[in-house]
Amino acid sequence: MSTRPRTPAPGTPAPGKLPLPELAQMKRDGRRIVMVTAYDYPSGQVASEAGVELVLVGDSAAMTVLGHQSTVPVTVDEMLLLTRAAARGSTRPLVVADLPFMSYQVSDQDAMVASGRFVKEGGADAIKMEGAGPTLDRILAVTRAGMPVMGHLGLTPQTATALGGFKAQGRTAAAALQLLQDALAIEAAGAFALVLECVPAAVAQAVTERLAIPTIGIGAGAGCDGQVLVYHDLLGYGDARAPRFVKRYADLHGAALRWVQRYAAEVRSGVFPALEHTYAMPAEELAAFEDALQPANPLFD
Ligand code: KIV
Repeated sequence: MSTRPRTPAPGTPAPGKLPLPELAQMKRDGRRIVMVTAYDYPSGQVASEAGVELVLVGDSAAMTVLGHQSTVPVTVDEMLLLTRAAARGSTRPLVVADLPFMSYQVSDQDAMVASGRFVKEGGADAIKMEGAGPTLDRILAVTRAGMPVMGHLGLTPQTATALGGFKAQGRTAAAALQLLQDALAIEAAGAFALVLECVPAAVAQAVTERLAIPTIGIGAGAGCDGQVLVYHDLLGYGDARAPRFVKRYADLHGAALRWVQRYAAEVRSGVFPALEHTYAMPAEELAAFEDALQPANPLFD
């Protein structure tokens, strides 16, 4: 019998992966959960080496990676490509893939088929869907099919136009109560965690205290069980203006710009490539080659 390690079957946690129940345990213990987005192999590796619990292959990729003005245009196939790459780098964190707009809104069947593709072809460990209402049935269907689902309430970027733009949600008592009801319904539908985006800190805290599943906040204050930021926003990678809830830890766009400008200047001035960047050949082979280049060579007749 072969003792070679085998690739785990889809749906089976890979060795070294964070076990999903650990997230609920972290909430019970009061240990904060860290999630960051990743969209390719190196960002997945960075997230994994940094020891975060969750990697989100967010449909924010539509804006940060693909240059769209919103998350709406990104397709399942585009997201699958990014998910596969990020998952290869994310050896420890659980990888959550965002279902793109209109890949799950029409029917439970659509939601299950799209989720299945992200798990089987994309290497995702879990799926994220936005909203409550009809999304509750989708969460139920996909979790029943054995795929863990993360919910997303507050500012739901796929429906930002209907919400009046990219702005904070749940700012009236009625809207906050609705958000709490939706959060409870998402938990009851079987979600393992819930993203709260751009909601008042007091509302996010009240929701967090009433749910058994962890909440992951973005622009929702420190009362959530965890936090998520978009990789490009926190590293300043890309020239887009970040929302006010983002803390920028670096200016990778500025640094990349300066290094590419220096490279261009060195190419133009002849500083690059230098001798150490080139390949030599044995002296006798070079001599033979130069000989062969002489005009008297019959090769050039
Ligand atoms: O797509 C995304 O990156 C997200 C996060 C902002 C939560 O949904």
